Amino acid sequence: MNVPIKTPDEIGKMREAGRQAASVFEMLIPHVTAGVSTGELDRLCHDYIVNELGSTPAPLDYHGFPKSICTSINHVVCHGIPDDAKKLKKGDIMNIDITVKTADGYHGDSSMMFIIGETIQGERLCRVTQECLYHSIELVRPGVHLSELARAIQSHAEANGYSVVRDFCGHGIGSGFHEDPQVLHYDGYAQGADIALQEGMCFTIEPMINVGDHRTKVLRDGWTAVTKDRSLTAQWEHTLLVTASGVEVLTARSDEDLSFLDR
Ligand code: MF3
Ligand code: CO
Ligand code: CO
Repeated sequence: MNVPIKTPDEIGKMREAGRQAASVFEMLIPHVTAGVSTGELDRLCHDYIVNELGSTPAPLDYHGFPKSICTSINHVVCHGIPDDAKKLKKGDIMNIDITVKTADGYHGDSSMMFIIGETIQGERLCRVTQECLYHSIELVRPGVHLSELARAIQSHAEANGYSVVRDFCGHGIGSGFHEDPQVLHYDGYAQGADIALQEGMCFTIEPMINVGDHRTKVLRDGWTAVTKDRSLTAQWEHTLLVTASGVEVLTARSDEDLSFLDR
């Protein structure tokens, strides 16, 4: 395993990549309403990333992925493909996952949930999943092991009656979209993979939490991952930098309250 430690110059480029990814959400949020298609949301993001930011949407053509963002609705765990025929309706919950690659060649990767209209079960799942992300971010500092982050996520999810997806994980990030290490969201590290964090590491945490059981399957399009039992699922993701004293959330958005990190 080769976990890159970012230089001060690279950290500057990661900060810019993270800010850009956050800015795509800030542009997009008012457009996410009942009746809009996921294909329209994809075009909005694509055009903003290319024309306003001068960057590239990293998913486009990534191992053949056909669109610029991932849109994952209700029982879709991740990697949902935007589609002009797929319109949002009241009661839906949806994850949008955005990764920007800057002209400098660095990545900012983040995802968030959108709740369309009202859904009591959906709102609870989305809130608990965001709490899982925040409880793990709060632990990040040099010397902490990845398994401690995983246990914080798993215990909060399971205490609320939910399960943690095992088939997908977080990842190191930098000039590569997906770098070492793998960041699991449940306590399942193999010998040697449960590394201690060091200042200058950049990685994502992106828990996927299911109302039903943890198993997933990929549909015949080769991308769309769904819960095997078709239960509701949610995900939130941030790109993080390990600092001397703790953590910087590189993809923090203006709609978020991260004051729990002030310590
Ligand atoms: N952004 C996703 C992640 O969090 C990866 C999407 S890859 C794609 O790692 F090809 F599906 F876009
Ligand atoms: Co990611
Ligand atoms: Co992502």
